[in-house]
Amino acid sequence: MNILKRRSWELPEREATPEHIFLNRRQILAGLVGGGALLGSGLGMRPAFAEDDPSAGLYPVQRNPAFQLDRDLTAEDVASKYNNFYEFGSHKQIWSAAQDLKIRPWTVTLDGLIDNPQTIGIDDLLAKMPLEERLYRHRCVEAWSMAVPWSGFALADLVRLAGPQTGAKYLRFETFHDPSVASGQKQSWYPWPYVEGLTLEEATNELAFMATGVYGKPLANQFGAPVRLVSPWKYGFKSIKSVVRITFTDQRPVSFWEEIQPKEYGFWANVNPSVPHRRWPQASEKLLGTDERRTTLLFNGYEEQVAHLYKGMKGELLYM
Ligand code: MTE
Repeated sequence: MNILKRRSWELPEREATPEHIFLNRRQILAGLVGGGALLGSGLGMRPAFAEDDPSAGLYPVQRNPAFQLDRDLTAEDVASKYNNFYEFGSHKQIWSAAQDLKIRPWTVTLDGLIDNPQTIGIDDLLAKMPLEERLYRHRCVEAWSMAVPWSGFALADLVRLAGPQTGAKYLRFETFHDPSVASGQKQSWYPWPYVEGLTLEEATNELAFMATGVYGKPLANQFGAPVRLVSPWKYGFKSIKSVVRITFTDQRPVSFWEEIQPKEYGFWANVNPSVPHRRWPQASEKLLGTDERRTTLLFNGYEEQVAHLYKGMKGELLYM
């Protein structure tokens, strides 16, 4: 008899969406896209992504069944109306202001200690990368969480495209900087542009993902269109939005929040329920769109995939 050992983030079978239902939905959505009739989630909502987004025909993409959840997905209208994107304001209702961001043309520059430095247009990048959908938990340091169906590609594939040289130890990610569309960037006390970083080992871990879509469609601007990082074992502030540059370096990047308040936000920022933030206890989290609170899991439930990355590290504040 084959005994399958289920990993901590995998769904009990009874809670999983049967493949035929998922495929039918994909076929229906694909048909709607082809006919130019896709309206939001197909339920009469206002379109959640730019109507002229040239990547619309790429979605929905095939779901990778290796990445499943232990909870229901957060409703799309909840996840897309409660966002942190300080470029457009320091509150959660930035979704409408974020529509001012023009996401075409858009390029991503790969530079630093790599063999293949390049500036690549987002649609050329999308054409090169194998796209898939993954269901991930998404945990903010403010002690709320969502469960999100991201579409995109493994960050490891982008690292391969760049061809890191021996000295490359870190990836430094940078967001666009344009105060004329992002009024938050007129606030000079913030160290714009938003910057984040990962080690090369973290970036090539199976979980590290570049999202270009969500809920079976291109990313809506408020989620960080046209491309954002998703590192689900870390607090959400690591998941930098609307990326324009990735620099491979031997220097540990100082991230946006770390520069503002190093006593509260560190480089590693791995989720840990037993290490409270100065302002938010981390033992449990509110599941947005529900009345439920849940116990927070170490590494946000991805311990099996990532704990080895941090073995034997001494003197590092791994959980802030
Ligand atoms: N990226 C940029 N460029 N600007 C931001 O303000 N906020 C971060 C992160 N990425 C942020 C960002 C924070 S604090 C969180 S919790 C997540 O985005 C929120 O992602 P969501 O709006 O998709 O839930």
